[in-house]
Amino acid sequence: MFFAVASASLVGVSYLLFVSAAPFPFPLSNGFPTISNPSAQLTTIEQQAHGSLPNGSPPPTISDNSKTSLRLIAFNELFEVAFFTELISNITNSTGGTQSYGIGNQSTRKTVLDALNAVVAQEELHALNANNALANFNSNPIQPCKYNFPVDTFSDAIKLASTFTDVVLGTLQEVQTLFAIDGDAGLISGVSSVIGQEGEQNGFYRNTLGKIPSALPFLTTMTREFAFSSLNQDFVVLGSCPNINEIDLPIFGTLTVVTSDIQPRSQNIEFSVNASKYGGSDAQFSRFSLVYINQQNNPVVEKLQDVRVQNNTVLFEASFPFDEATFGNGLTIAVVTNSSGPFSSAGAVANATVFGPGLIQIN
Ligand SMILES: *[C@@H]1O[C@H](CO)[C@@H](O)[C@H](O)[C@H]1NC(C)=O
Ligand SMILES: *[C@@H]1O[C@H](CO)[C@@H](O)[C@H](O)[C@H]1NC(C)=O
Ligand SMILES: *[C@@H]1O[C@H](CO)[C@@H](O)[C@H](O)[C@H]1NC(C)=O
Ligand SMILES: *[C@@H]1O[C@H](CO)[C@@H](O)[C@H](O)[C@H]1NC(C)=O
Ligand SMILES: *[C@@H]1O[C@H](CO)[C@@H](O)[C@H](O)[C@H]1NC(C)=O
Ligand SMILES: *[C@@H]1O[C@H](CO)[C@@H](O)[C@H](O)[C@H]1NC(C)=O
Ligand SMILES: *[C@@H]1O[C@H](CO)[C@@H](O)[C@H](O)[C@H]1NC(C)=O
Repeated sequence: MFFAVASASLVGVSYLLFVSAAPFPFPLSNGFPTISNPSAQLTTIEQQAHGSLPNGSPPPTISDNSKTSLRLIAFNELFEVAFFTELISNITNSTGGTQSYGIGNQSTRKTVLDALNAVVAQEELHALNANNALANFNSNPIQPCKYNFPVDTFSDAIKLASTFTDVVLGTLQEVQTLFAIDGDAGLISGVSSVIGQEGEQNGFYRNTLGKIPSALPFLTTMTREFAFSSLNQDFVVLGSCPNINEIDLPIFGTLTVVTSDIQPRSQNIEFSVNASKYGGSDAQFSRFSLVYINQQNNPVVEKLQDVRVQNNTVLFEASFPFDEATFGNGLTIAVVTNSSGPFSSAGAVANATVFGPGLIQIN
């Protein structure tokens, strides 16, 4: 349903008008994601990444739930490699400041390309590291999909990079907690090193967008279910992933943030969902709630207002209680739940989620 056209759910911006170029296909010209260790191709990637894959021994065994986390990490990193490869190609092929990927100022252009050329190789190593770990535990590596990216300008591409990096930064928090719960402490430090690394990247993206580098004192938490849903709803070409069925996580219905360019003030914002699986009945929706997750705070539950069914789309509003000190800066996740809570964690919200996530990015 959602995949033929590009995403409408990111950052409260409607992307439906964009018709993407051909979906991004793997493998890369260096053979990625099929890279042996050791090999000349791996050495070249490591040089471009300014460093190596970890060379220590992994733990002897890990839990099935930790394997699910590694599969999601590989799935996400493969997507990131596709995105940054295509972004570099778009910038490289754009010659001047008047083109949508042209960066007129040559010193800024060099700074951006130097950064992204390191990032793409670093993401390749993140993906290889997760897939090599799965292979070590006798599990299949996750294979790449085909992807569409709902952007066609440099600044929209960097905004998107900043938002999906925020999603990763939230999700890896949960992954670490689950590693600890499942007794897989040996995996925690490597993931911590990637959290810091992705935070460095996001400081650069935010700076490029004219924002302060660090968004919040405590970054917004996510769950694996929300990250997996978002990747599939927004970027993955439906049916193009060879072994996505091995990733034991749900894909929720899509929640579109209809209001665009959301400003930092308390307001109502509009959302929509495709209601066909609920028979298009607004009665169904009166028992649902809109839940926001922002920073490390308890989820905020709001009532659905002005629920309207137009054809097979349900439109509704909900209060967005922005407050500079306490709610709404940085990444906010919005989801529709079939319970009004109260919820004590993002995981509890995910357990009641029917549609989502919508991603709202302010400041
Ligand atoms: C690259 O440019 C094409 C054509 O404008 C666009 O469809 C695609 O989404 C862009 N990709 C990225 C990652 O910016
Ligand atoms: C764009 O530039 C890249 C190098 O970054 C090159 O590999 C690619 O073939 C070019 N793509 C097009 C469509 O010209
Ligand atoms: C290029 O842009 C940077 C960052 O905005 C600025 O500091 C620098 O002076 C610019 N250089 C030129 C030659 O315009
Ligand atoms: C809603 O979902 C149905 C069933 O998947 C699909 O046929 C329809 O095109 C979707 N409508 C919209 C507006 O996306
Ligand atoms: C609903 O569908 C009808 C028939 O396809 C169309 O004429 C109408 O504009 C649609 N209404 C909305 C609000 O999208
Ligand atoms: C979510 O549901 C699962 C399965 O029922 C349960 O194990 C888990 O504790 C729940 N998580 C939270 C945070 O309630
Ligand atoms: C609420 O949604 C959750 C997650 O999709 C689902 O597991 C649960 O069965 C639903 N409960 C009701 C009462 O619909």
